[in-house]
Amino acid sequence: MLNFNYNVSTRIFFGRNSIEHLGDELKQYGTRVLFVSGQGSIKKTGLYDTVIDIFSQNGLVYHELSGVQPNPRISLVRQGVRLCRDHDIQCIVAVGGGSVIDSAKTIATGYYHDGDPWDLFVLGDASVKKALPIGTVLTFSGTGSEMNGNAVISNEETTEKLAIHKDVLRPRFSILDPTYTFSMSENQTAAGTVDIFSHILEQYFSPTRDAFLQNRLAEGLLKTCIQYGPVALEAPRDYEARAQLMWTSSIALNGLLGYGRVSDWATHGVEHALSAMFDVTHGVGLAILTPYWMELVLSDETMSKFVEYARNVWMITGNNDRTVAKEGIEKTREFFTALGMPQKLRDVGVTQNALVVMVEKAVVHGDLGKFKKLGKPEILSLLNNAF
Ligand code: NZQ
Ligand code: ZN
Repeated sequence: MLNFNYNVSTRIFFGRNSIEHLGDELKQYGTRVLFVSGQGSIKKTGLYDTVIDIFSQNGLVYHELSGVQPNPRISLVRQGVRLCRDHDIQCIVAVGGGSVIDSAKTIATGYYHDGDPWDLFVLGDASVKKALPIGTVLTFSGTGSEMNGNAVISNEETTEKLAIHKDVLRPRFSILDPTYTFSMSENQTAAGTVDIFSHILEQYFSPTRDAFLQNRLAEGLLKTCIQYGPVALEAPRDYEARAQLMWTSSIALNGLLGYGRVSDWATHGVEHALSAMFDVTHGVGLAILTPYWMELVLSDETMSKFVEYARNVWMITGNNDRTVAKEGIEKTREFFTALGMPQKLRDVGVTQNALVVMVEKAVVHGDLGKFKKLGKPEILSLLNNAF
């Protein structure tokens, strides 16, 4: 186990009606609130009205920034920073999925940055120093943004999608009521489940050999996705399925699984280049790329990890390691396909001549991958196989 500094500081209010904590939590940080939301799903479900009522019952003055798109854009973040400055905002509440939360985080730190908030993504994590306090009301299980210090934002002018990571971006609190995810569509549920699954894999496929505890935790979380993803698709209002997925999404990427070991993150690096160029849903991109990444990095050197995965997660038996490893990869592909995910990049509107540019975008901060290093030739080969 490697050294680490543990910080999973977000306060979680989990379960039905946990929104009742929203007013008291926000009041700890001030009375002037920026309310960030997406393109209207919370109006349809009634959550919008609930939040507004809580503001008025608690004497909170709010300003609104709605319209956050999936693959959230830096242009809206800029508007949010201006609103915060014009109205002397004291805290931000994000009500929605990862895109809304990531926009709120970027506004929170952009508020303290003298230049353009996009600078922070170009300069990297060291440039992120301070942020307004943020709280979230989660409506989409997937990214884990509700409990981590990451923000991923797209720049529509440069067609880049970049991330920042810093503990100051961790939400102070998050309200996790699984009933808010009942209205996720089949496709969103599937994409969210794949995203959770991928976050676990990115940390499970690690070059750090001594991580027994982290591996067993990861396997439990992977099995939870395998168990409950299909249930949520079949029965969108199944509380237990939604609850299991929601809590798995938070634990999968709040830091816990990664402490004490090095993680890979190559597939995410490639996917961010893909969704920057083609506006593909993040989880859909991961569903296509992940099995091809597995096939690419499977070798004599990495075999034992794939065998561990196949045996412990998919319960595959047999004595031939290569056969067992390959069956594990095939099970992964079948799982994503059974959730309704496409298998090829060409199925989501990608053109083959764009792949070379995508490679350049993927390596903007250097080669990818720690379990297995991927340079430009390997990334191109991954994309060609997935095409
Ligand atoms: O905008 P609204 O109307 O709310 O609709 C959203 C959006 O269209 C809808 N939705 C959300 N909750 C719903 C709902 N529809 C019906 N019922 C509900 N309860 O779902 C659509 C997608 O929402 P979005 O927030 O984009 O999804 P997700 O949570 O998957 O976020 C994806 C973004 O997060 C980034 C991704 O790259 C992508 O940009 N990621 C962020 C990470 C992080 N901060 O830690 C890590 C991830 O690896 C990922 O990169
Ligand atoms: Zn992800």
